[in-house]
Amino acid sequence: MINGITTSNPVIECILSRTAAKYYDPDATLSDEQIYELVRIGTTAPTSFHMQNWRFIAVRTREAKARLSPIAWGQPPITEAAVTFIICGQLADSSVIPERLAPLVKAGVMPATMVPEWENPARGLYMDQPQRQRDEAMRTGTFGAAAMIYAARSLGLGSTPMIGFDADGVHREFGLTKNEVPVMLLSVGVERAGNWAQKPRRPVTEVLNLI
Ligand SMILES: Cc1cc2nc3c(=O)[nH]c(=O)nc-3n(C[C@H](O)[C@H](O)[C@H](O)COP(=O)(O)O)c2cc1C
Repeated sequence: MINGITTSNPVIECILSRTAAKYYDPDATLSDEQIYELVRIGTTAPTSFHMQNWRFIAVRTREAKARLSPIAWGQPPITEAAVTFIICGQLADSSVIPERLAPLVKAGVMPATMVPEWENPARGLYMDQPQRQRDEAMRTGTFGAAAMIYAARSLGLGSTPMIGFDADGVHREFGLTKNEVPVMLLSVGVERAGNWAQKPRRPVTEVLNLI
């Protein structure tokens, strides 16, 4: 308890107990409905200007895993975990904003008059700014992946975010478009014995500046 704020509840326990898994039960699968649900939860993560500039490729068949494994350093989770998501971020493009905001306007969440107030600054921020477009793709994909990691943990599933892969190879082999970046791979599945205990962290005093 800190000043009346509890530091222990099921959500915090879920966050505190997560680790990156290396070993999975290769016989445990997830149904397409379970995969769909994980992605649905992932897509409730925040995105800049609500662009939702992401795509998730669920690699879950033996054949698809065999295509991914050699271009992902042969990492064990690719073949053993039930599913490995190729988390794709899409280069930030303000022209998608009216279409992405239309459902909010229709639902009465946002007045129609506000749409240009989001689109115009986004255009100024991203147009002709390839670094920012790519940075946003990476942020979007990372937020989505993080939501899926903790959702998986809350369901008793392990997960592994992975940057150990050939980005060009994944781009080519899995048909990413030219505006898509493979942000990371994310394996999810039922863990088996042998995974490491949680690793100690740097002290908060070393990473926190109170100003
Ligand atoms: C962006 C990112 C990339 C990672 N890439 C890999 C990877 O390619 N292979 C792997 O086994 N673990 C990978 N990890 C897992 C990290 O090694 C792990 O998160 C870190 O050692 C901390 O351990 P913990 O997640 O168990 O707390 C990655 C993690 C992140 C966030």
